[in-house]
Amino acid sequence: MSLLEKLYRTPLGKQVAGRAGLAEPPTLRRGRVLPIGPVVLAELPGGGIGAEALALAGVHPAEPLFDVPEARTEDDRGRAQPPRYGVRPGALVIDATGVREIGQLELLRQVLRPVMRGLEKSGRIVILAMDAAAVDGLEAKAVAQAIDGINRTVGKELRDGSTANLLFLRAGTTAADLRSTLSFLLEGRSAFVDGQTWRIGPAKSGDTVPDDHVPTRPFADKIVVVTGAARGIGADIARTFARDGGKVVAVDVPAAGDALAKVANEVRGSALQLDITTDGAGHRIAAHVASVHGPQARIWAIVHNAGITRDKMLANLDEKLWASVLEVNLAAEIRMNHTLLDPDLPGGLAANSRIVGIASTSGWAGNKGQTNYAASKAGVMGLTWAESAALADRPITVNAVAPGFIETEMTAAIPFVQREVFRRTNSLNQGGLPVDVAETIAYLCDPASGGVDGQIVRVCGQNLIGA
Ligand SMILES: NC(=O)c1ccc[n+]([C@@H]2O[C@H](COP(=O)([O-])OP(=O)(O)OC[C@H]3O[C@@H](n4cnc5c(N)ncnc54)[C@H](O)[C@@H]3O)[C@@H](O)[C@H]2O)c1
Repeated sequence: MSLLEKLYRTPLGKQVAGRAGLAEPPTLRRGRVLPIGPVVLAELPGGGIGAEALALAGVHPAEPLFDVPEARTEDDRGRAQPPRYGVRPGALVIDATGVREIGQLELLRQVLRPVMRGLEKSGRIVILAMDAAAVDGLEAKAVAQAIDGINRTVGKELRDGSTANLLFLRAGTTAADLRSTLSFLLEGRSAFVDGQTWRIGPAKSGDTVPDDHVPTRPFADKIVVVTGAARGIGADIARTFARDGGKVVAVDVPAAGDALAKVANEVRGSALQLDITTDGAGHRIAAHVASVHGPQARIWAIVHNAGITRDKMLANLDEKLWASVLEVNLAAEIRMNHTLLDPDLPGGLAANSRIVGIASTSGWAGNKGQTNYAASKAGVMGLTWAESAALADRPITVNAVAPGFIETEMTAAIPFVQREVFRRTNSLNQGGLPVDVAETIAYLCDPASGGVDGQIVRVCGQNLIGA
């Protein structure tokens, strides 16, 4: 810890920081924990899927205490008052799937206004709307995008660790396709996902949720491979899958062998010392899975978490630094997927499985001194879209997360002032924790998340970079 950082942590330092607008950030609700207050469902005209999806997610919503849309009271002087919710809600779910006209956006304003300062801490706003591609007419398509603008702004205006997120529904989406996403967003697992929008569709045919699926143990007896698992985000990914019942294969370079063995033991998984850039890395993983779990065993999910930075301004960036980042962060992932997707490979990916990559906000927006890293992470996004399309007729989903500033050894190396700026430039006013990324990846790998495919979910607290 630098002298400046030590000073910053003293009571006087905190007082000065507070006066400079750097107040202590709110503590976020985390884990499989629903809000304390009621989850209010505001079903706008033409909606209907929200109630059923919430019921499937095990949430019993409260109705708003006023009629949408004409909820008006008058004060003593006859001035119109905004509607109020009876009890401080923990979450507001707005079913806007029937909204098609500009005039109907007023209904969103009406139901949102009372919660902007009335939600409990770490509260939630979740908006359901139809994807522009699923509605007819110019106005309806424009209105879908208008809702995205509302969501992003609401995320920025909410306080005390509350978040807002929007789900666009593709044609044919059912309530069952929404349930894992709704429980993820309402629970503390989504603590650092804010101001985001992603698309949900019907689960691919063959991607069915088993009858014995237990929402809190979604990976019971399922094999999950995590690369870069010896420390940081990868170690928390391993822990999160193990908490949810998964059998973890923890992969990392031989030089990290001790730390890797520790994580593997902790999660009662197995360790595989492997540099993912070596030839035949995919075959090594498959052979390990087959030898530890038997020749019939198949991988349920692979999480391509291993990554490196080699930051330099482009003017100083040599060929070696350029190539190493692209090799680890992108090329190795393409090669391993290619090998593991062979349906006949013992220890390869299961017929119905999940692939998750790790992009970065630097991949969205670019970042000074990170041309190589931004190229690799934008490449991960391109790969996610392309591979999900290429696997359209196999029940395998391909998604990625894009973390913003996460507190790890990687980011601890950033000089203090710069680190504090990165930490603060998001709507939640703090850095995320490795577990926040891990929870989002676990949600994407859930057997009930088969309708989430080809999506990049940012875990960045609505970072201003690339927002
Ligand atoms: N920390 C952040 O703020 C942040 C932000 C955006 C994206 N990410 C991404 O999240 C992932 C994890 O980041 P982290 O902060 O935990 O990093 P980290 O450096 O703490 O951990 C990365 C792990 O990957 C392993 N690894 C590196 N090269 C490997 C190789 N060739 N073969 C096998 N393992 C290898 C390392 O040994 C290490 O254990 C990376 O892909 C990173 O780019 C991190």
